[in-house]
Amino acid sequence: MVTTFLVSNNMRKSAFVILVTLIVVISCQKNVSLPGKYTATPYELKVPKGFPTPVIPVENPMTVEGVNLGHMLYFDPILSSNGKSCNTCHTKERSFSSPLFVSKTGIKTSVPPHLNLAWNPEYNWDGSAPKLDLLPLADFGPDFFNTNMSDLVQKIKSHPKYPFMFKQAFNVDDVAKLSSDELQLKIVYALSQFMRTMISSNSKCDKMFRREVNFTPEELDGFQTFSTERGDCFHCHGYPLFSNNSFNNNGLDSVHLGADVGLFAVTKNEYDKGKFSAPTLRNIELTAPYMHDGRFQTLEEVVEFYNSGVHWNSPNIDPLMTKSAKIYGLNLSTTQKANLVKFLKTLTDTTYLNNPEFANPL
Ligand code: HEC
Ligand code: HEC
Repeated sequence: MVTTFLVSNNMRKSAFVILVTLIVVISCQKNVSLPGKYTATPYELKVPKGFPTPVIPVENPMTVEGVNLGHMLYFDPILSSNGKSCNTCHTKERSFSSPLFVSKTGIKTSVPPHLNLAWNPEYNWDGSAPKLDLLPLADFGPDFFNTNMSDLVQKIKSHPKYPFMFKQAFNVDDVAKLSSDELQLKIVYALSQFMRTMISSNSKCDKMFRREVNFTPEELDGFQTFSTERGDCFHCHGYPLFSNNSFNNNGLDSVHLGADVGLFAVTKNEYDKGKFSAPTLRNIELTAPYMHDGRFQTLEEVVEFYNSGVHWNSPNIDPLMTKSAKIYGLNLSTTQKANLVKFLKTLTDTTYLNNPEFANPL
């Protein structure tokens, strides 16, 4: 009797100690135990002065924990069954892009940089991805990650950090209880939250606009070519995004076939043949080769194209390209062309590239 009493008394004591510990842990750390509910902290996106307000979709609000999870996943080959991560093709040194991607069918695509993606209304060269939040779903497929989903679940479940991070970001108690579709959706939502934080707004050109630095006389001359009728670049690549967030045919080809049909592939509208997204020119120095198919190796080649290589007879060519003053080309002098390239290089943002918030966390 006495022994039983002692045991049960001890048990009662230890149960009490456990209960008190639990209460203390829960009240100190706010809902961190795996079951229960975790309320993620809203992330305040720092919109640079002069930038428009980006639209954040209601179904994927940004949170500190979601951004952290997306940051890890962006660099982690855990998502693939072939050792690739997003960072394989979107590498920091090249403003989170890389040279040409060649598909299994041999189609060459220039890999777009990741910056200021929060402001794009559509994604990909032909606008085939209307939502950033869903775009990376395609990466699980055979051309990119070739992901075996049951392996992925096991890898995440046995990872020292991810189960807790999914709990913090999305209140997921057990990733193995999600369907493949649900898990993929959480992953791409976190990736998109992270990508929206990737903001570039501190290039020499930004500093010039903020009156913190001056352009050299050559850069200033290039800027004038860019932003006046002399070169007429600003209509499609205007400040602050250096993109008009629209689709244009800038006269690269006179016929549009196969992978060169552009927006037509999405809309099937004849008037959209040859129209491609007018991309941002930020960090353009780092993202060769240029154009959707990477046909130009250097910025000098791009400038020469606009100066003398535009196909005026291209169907659906943008009216900006065929203004009467341009009909015999831009007629820029050798110096003006060199200065235009010098101006384009003022769009390089080393603060962005070296931002520890976008560094490889693994
Ligand atoms: C094997 C190379 C490769 C990998 C790996 C890869 N991407 Fe890409 N990414 C591309 C290419 C090529 C394009 C351009 C596709 C197009 O326009 O048709 C692209 C386009 C994008 C875009 C659209 C950018 C824009 O300006 O329109 C986003 C966003 C993106 N990728 C995110 C990701 C994420 C997130 C991952 C990881 C889950 C990833 N990518 C992995 C090659 C890759
Ligand atoms: C009518 C709109 C328009 C005008 C004007 C225009 N561009 Fe473009 N630009 C585009 C489009 C659209 C693309 C993408 C075309 C493609 O890849 O098929 C592009 C692509 C580029 C690229 C390559 C970007 C990359 O990531 O590969 C550079 C560099 C560029 N333009 C610079 C200029 C300069 C410099 C001028 C002025 C001389 C200029 N653009 C005038 C619409 C325009």
